Amino acid sequence: MRLEGKRAIVTGAGSGIGKAIASRFAQEGARVVIADIDLEAAEIVAKELGDNTKPYRVDVSKAEEVHKLINHVVDEWGGLDIMVNNAGVGVAATTTETSEEDFDRIIAINLKGTFLGMKYAIPAIRNSGGGSIINIASVAGLVGVPERAAYCASKGGIVALTRAAAIDHISEGVRINCICPGTVLTPWIERITANYPDPEAARAAMEARQPHGRFVMPEEIAAMAAFLASDEAGSIVGAAMVVDGGMTAK
Ligand SMILES: NC(=O)c1ccc[n+]([C@@H]2O[C@H](COP(=O)([O-])OP(=O)(O)OC[C@H]3O[C@@H](n4cnc5c(N)ncnc54)[C@H](O)[C@@H]3O)[C@@H](O)[C@H]2O)c1
Repeated sequence: MRLEGKRAIVTGAGSGIGKAIASRFAQEGARVVIADIDLEAAEIVAKELGDNTKPYRVDVSKAEEVHKLINHVVDEWGGLDIMVNNAGVGVAATTTETSEEDFDRIIAINLKGTFLGMKYAIPAIRNSGGGSIINIASVAGLVGVPERAAYCASKGGIVALTRAAAIDHISEGVRINCICPGTVLTPWIERITANYPDPEAARAAMEARQPHGRFVMPEEIAAMAAFLASDEAGSIVGAAMVVDGGMTAK
């Protein structure tokens, strides 16, 4: 129960990694808002996780919607302790193959969405006596992953923004870090491989690129998030925590 009494928001919690983080936070004693653009998915997750969770519809790329989400939680629960900026999208394409629309959409959701999540959560967390922000970046923010140009750019931006925000706001009691997952088994994998001529082969190649021979599990990212959100991580500030089965060690 490392997060007992804490009030948390997890964006993109209607699926995959965000859902696993929300579940782990609830198990650790936190109250959690399951925030997602897909309200139905958020409602299903909140029902599954129980009374300490609430569904909420938000598009993280829209400033007024993110601001409303933070204000809503502060009004309902009297403050905010933990913000997880997890919502994200990707497209499999090289730089020349990427359309301008796809580039703008990926940056708007992944990078600007993380910026907005921090912009409005930092004052709320500061006014609640301090807390933690966790941004979900990717190994794609640290190394070049083939055919993920716009995605790599968005995640590299999250790593850099995490560091900048961390040093700006640690004196206010807001501890900001990011997690860089490797290839995690979520519905995302099925979606991205569906666009390849041979989806089965593409999926097997994604699994094989993990040196430990298997996909990273969403629960393993949730375990890192719970640690970063807890007081045990008190000296971890502006870090990019890699959970990738050795992918970037090669
Ligand atoms: N799966 C992986 O291999 C992997 C690896 C590294 C990083 N990540 C990152 O982890 C995060 C979660 O990925 P996942 O694999 O769980 O994906 P997922 O597709 O299973 O879940 C993403 C969730 O985000 C929501 N979402 C999308 N756009 C949104 C928006 N504009 N506003 C609010 N919610 C929105 C979706 O509805 C969905 O519920 C993403 O940021 C992704 O880049 C995933």
